[in-house]
Amino acid sequence: MPKTNKRIGVFDSGFGGLTVLRALLTHIPQAHYTFLGDTARLPYGSKSRRTIAKFAAESAQFLVNEQGAQYLVIACNTASALALDAIQEAVPVPVLGVIQPGAQAARAASRTGDVLVIATDATVRSHAYAAACQALGLHALEKACPLLVPLVEEGWTGDSPRHSVTEQVIRIYLDELLKDAAAAHLHPDTLVLGCTHYPLLRPLIEQIVPVGMKVIDSAEATAAQAVHLFDTKDMGAPGLPVLETWEDCPADVHCFATDSVEKFERLGSRFLGCPTGKVELVDLGG
Ligand code: DGL
Repeated sequence: MPKTNKRIGVFDSGFGGLTVLRALLTHIPQAHYTFLGDTARLPYGSKSRRTIAKFAAESAQFLVNEQGAQYLVIACNTASALALDAIQEAVPVPVLGVIQPGAQAARAASRTGDVLVIATDATVRSHAYAAACQALGLHALEKACPLLVPLVEEGWTGDSPRHSVTEQVIRIYLDELLKDAAAAHLHPDTLVLGCTHYPLLRPLIEQIVPVGMKVIDSAEATAAQAVHLFDTKDMGAPGLPVLETWEDCPADVHCFATDSVEKFERLGSRFLGCPTGKVELVDLGG
């Protein structure tokens, strides 16, 4: 398949956005991709709107002004929730965040109209998911789960012998959330993973949620929306079938990180599902 000259920039505060990149690669295989993980300034989820907007705008400018991205996917829930406007003002290209696609996926999944959202503290405080869900006729109950990002960063996910600690933490958060939902007379049937780190916990989360509850993340929905929002005519979609697996994809991905490239290469492959290739260090300031 010939490559187009179109470049899509994908941004996250860390590695989690690689799950969104993975989905993009299967939907728009012929684009070139530049991924930036602002790992030196992670976590965004515990910071203020002002700081998140500054960091996210600088990251977006790096991808567009220095790397030539013609489209941007903000593969970070926190930056999408608190800084989408700031990013749109900072760069002259189409920008797609993950909140709207996540809410739409919840709308498609939920029968009761009541959904649960777990996310970082900043995302929950912004109520971006509640607003996006409300606009689609859903009622969303949100909960911050600040311990989950560090657990994923440490690799304490489902395939680690230490996963029982992570399981315990998830169980506590979800029990509290379900109790709050019951107290509010809600009947949630869908759980949105409102943080790009959480898909790595999905097998554990699916074991813990009540039987029948659907668990969704916004990676697939975001990639599908990118096909429509971006001018993908010469990028292999639409018209071409969506690739079944990442392994089929003739990937062209260049990754940058603002902190240890070694750590990015080691952890990033878990999110991307394959080696990240050589990661380059970039300094965006403090
Ligand atoms: N990428 C962030 C998100 O999806 C999680 C990590 C952070 O707090 O920066 O919300």
